[in-house]
Amino acid sequence: MIRILNNDTFVLETKGTTYAFKIMKTGQLMHLYYGPKIHVDCDTDLSEKQSNIPGNTVAYSNENTEFSLEDVDLEASFYGKGDIREPMIECVSFDGSTTLDFVYDSYEMLDEKPSFTTLPTSYISDGVEQSLEPDGDEDSAEKSFRFDGSEENKGQPAKADGSEENAEKSSMAAGDAVTLAIKLVDKNHGFTLILYYTAFEDTDVITRSAVFINSTNQKVVLKRAMGLLIDFPESGYKITSFHGGWANEMNRCDTVLTGGKFVNSSFTGTSSSRSNPLTLMAHTDSTEDSGLVFGFNPVYSGNHYTAFEVNSFGKTRVVSGINPSSFSYTLYPEEKFEIPEAVLTVSKDGYNGVSENFHCFVSKHIVRGLWRDKERPVLLNSWEANYFNISEDKLVRLAKKGKDLGIELFVMDDGWFGERNSDKSSLGDWTENKKKLPHGLKGLSEKIHALGMDFGIWIEPEMVNVDSELYRNHPEFVIEIPGERYCDSKVNEKAKSENKASEASAPVQSEGRNQRLLDFSNPSVVDLLFEKISVVLKSAEINYVKWDFNRIFSDVYSKHLPYERQGEVLHRYVMGFYSLAKRLTEAYPEILFEGCAAGGNRFDLGALCYFPQIWASDNTDAVSRLSIQGGLSYGYPASAYTCHISASPNHQTLHETALLSRAAVAYFGSFGLELNLLDAPSDELETLKRYIEFYKKYRRVFQYGSFYRGRSGNITEWTAVSPDKRTAVGMIFEKETHAEERHLTYFPKGLDLDKKYHFYNIPEKVSIKEFGDLINAAGLPVHIKPDSLIHNAVDRFYKLDGDREDTVKYGDTLMNAGQRLTESYSGTGINNVRVFKGYDARVYVMEEVE
Ligand code: DGJ
Repeated sequence: MIRILNNDTFVLETKGTTYAFKIMKTGQLMHLYYGPKIHVDCDTDLSEKQSNIPGNTVAYSNENTEFSLEDVDLEASFYGKGDIREPMIECVSFDGSTTLDFVYDSYEMLDEKPSFTTLPTSYISDGVEQSLEPDGDEDSAEKSFRFDGSEENKGQPAKADGSEENAEKSSMAAGDAVTLAIKLVDKNHGFTLILYYTAFEDTDVITRSAVFINSTNQKVVLKRAMGLLIDFPESGYKITSFHGGWANEMNRCDTVLTGGKFVNSSFTGTSSSRSNPLTLMAHTDSTEDSGLVFGFNPVYSGNHYTAFEVNSFGKTRVVSGINPSSFSYTLYPEEKFEIPEAVLTVSKDGYNGVSENFHCFVSKHIVRGLWRDKERPVLLNSWEANYFNISEDKLVRLAKKGKDLGIELFVMDDGWFGERNSDKSSLGDWTENKKKLPHGLKGLSEKIHALGMDFGIWIEPEMVNVDSELYRNHPEFVIEIPGERYCDSKVNEKAKSENKASEASAPVQSEGRNQRLLDFSNPSVVDLLFEKISVVLKSAEINYVKWDFNRIFSDVYSKHLPYERQGEVLHRYVMGFYSLAKRLTEAYPEILFEGCAAGGNRFDLGALCYFPQIWASDNTDAVSRLSIQGGLSYGYPASAYTCHISASPNHQTLHETALLSRAAVAYFGSFGLELNLLDAPSDELETLKRYIEFYKKYRRVFQYGSFYRGRSGNITEWTAVSPDKRTAVGMIFEKETHAEERHLTYFPKGLDLDKKYHFYNIPEKVSIKEFGDLINAAGLPVHIKPDSLIHNAVDRFYKLDGDREDTVKYGDTLMNAGQRLTESYSGTGINNVRVFKGYDARVYVMEEVE
């Protein structure tokens, strides 16, 4: 709900939060409050008191000397009128001036939330004075760069796509959301800035975005674009951000900010694994379950930027938007720039509280289309089973094994197209390799469907190898620094031998994974890829697509854009990526698109608008996944990240882990397998079959239940609880064990205090080989050499009983007293003990009993 009090105060309310700001007498917007729900009426004075201008600060005007903008809690702020904190917008106007003086003009209530920032429809508008299509006529060049041809879209908040159908699909615009648009006008030059606030009642989320409009008759160069600015009156908050790299994503980092600045940003061209866009801000004594925590996440897949700044008056400013480094955007008169939306939430129930808000919001309002609430299939992916070495025969044999275990979707990963036998060639050539797939995609798809499974493929549409037909035919479609294209070594050598010095000294182009980026800032490239991928998707029955992206940006330069627009390349690229993703997901709504960027290198809310699930990491090791999935869980629901059981020793870490440990961790997400089942022993296949059955039984709870983090560190505890709290599944994982640490208690969370639960595990048999040569200490008549034929034979026919948990308790008892688990092996006794030898886990079920 949004209320307006006393004609100057705006109050946004969700079921558990309040956000309030007011118009100052000088026209700036003063931030009043954001936090747990409070009563605010016409008599409630939330303003900060301002009667003396502090120290050597600057007064906004000589008529208003009682405050300086440097010491006011603001909603929007700009450089040049006394506020020296992180500004929202920066630009260079036609006269070279950079001072902005935006003040309140008017407001408007919108029934629907404008959806452009999460569903970018086209390209931001461009100058008309130059044709950007090298050979095109001026008209079409101009048209291809127009954000929106319609007059009413200029300077007005755009409505969601308009049609009923789209309003339904674009859930950001649907349901309980209300939007407030505030128009600010710059007193110096006359620019317009519209701030949008949407209150999502049910999920305790407020979103903010902004549109900058060049409402002057001269061009302007935008240098900074933040959709969110908010000042909190206190400082000393603990800022949480998530950092890492390839195969090591989402490590939680905490920084207490008592002064200065903390910036969480990416400069990879993507949202990145180096710094995920998600940030949290909390009181230092907040815990997983208690205390105040704020959450921020920009809906953007490119270079993002969120800064926390404490000023000399002890206030904390948060701004969020596009990373200003290397960014600029030229706007001609009447053109506008839409700034990505930022998602805000707050909870007084600690980090788990804020995560729950994010999970509900992402599931309901970010993920859209047919897959929004749908249970995700259990899949088998060919990558870690076969890598590039695939063939129809191998794939079908693997798929058959998968079918026997209960796999629902078989995914053929990389290696199926062009001459793709390694990562050195063929990206861009999206036609099947007939040597590997003699019956084509269609033939393979038919065989997989005949087995009773869905069929999926891997693509990487934004990339090209120099060794590809696409590159040979269209070098102009590639992001490369300028110069002749004689940049690959062979051509260079040839040029040198032919004494063509200028060609040989052409710039070096830096590659990642031997590939270059297609220039998605050029709409013709996006069109071409739409056609190419459509041909693939129409050629066979394809139910799933894994959309990969395996390098970061370098050599950023678009041959399509003129000199003054090179600062736009990265943002235009993101719009191009969204455009292709939107067109393909709308053209093929039934296909499940899984995002991937060498794992979790583009895991963000923008990508989730199109990809209902994203491959969390190329690291499939259960131990590493504790921090990767644990990190993701702070801001993203389990249905959004995919998790596979893979081989042991693990291919990325060589860690050896029990199958149950791998399953336990992979269950808490969208689950699948990624290992060579053809090499797996039969007992492992039987166990996998049981695990898949178990997952399917509790899939809804794992994917869509409320997720709670318990302890983390040496012990990790996770619990997922169904919305009616009648069913819960939990996991405990211990990394390192010590002798005589026999006792372990598992603490579930989120249960109904007054419901009675049957708490149990599915007992496992224990291999005698777990005990190594201790078997000889059991007084056997013969000596058994460890790992000998006889040891293996005994192991095949004789297993020990493992630990069993089976009790009925109230929710409050389970959560507060915890469930004391069967004692672990610790030097004595081998039957009915819990064998925890490091990297071990258990999974528990809690079901309500009448
Ligand atoms: C990186 C992905 O993250 C992997 O899962 C796999 O798809 C490879 N790319 C294929 O090249």
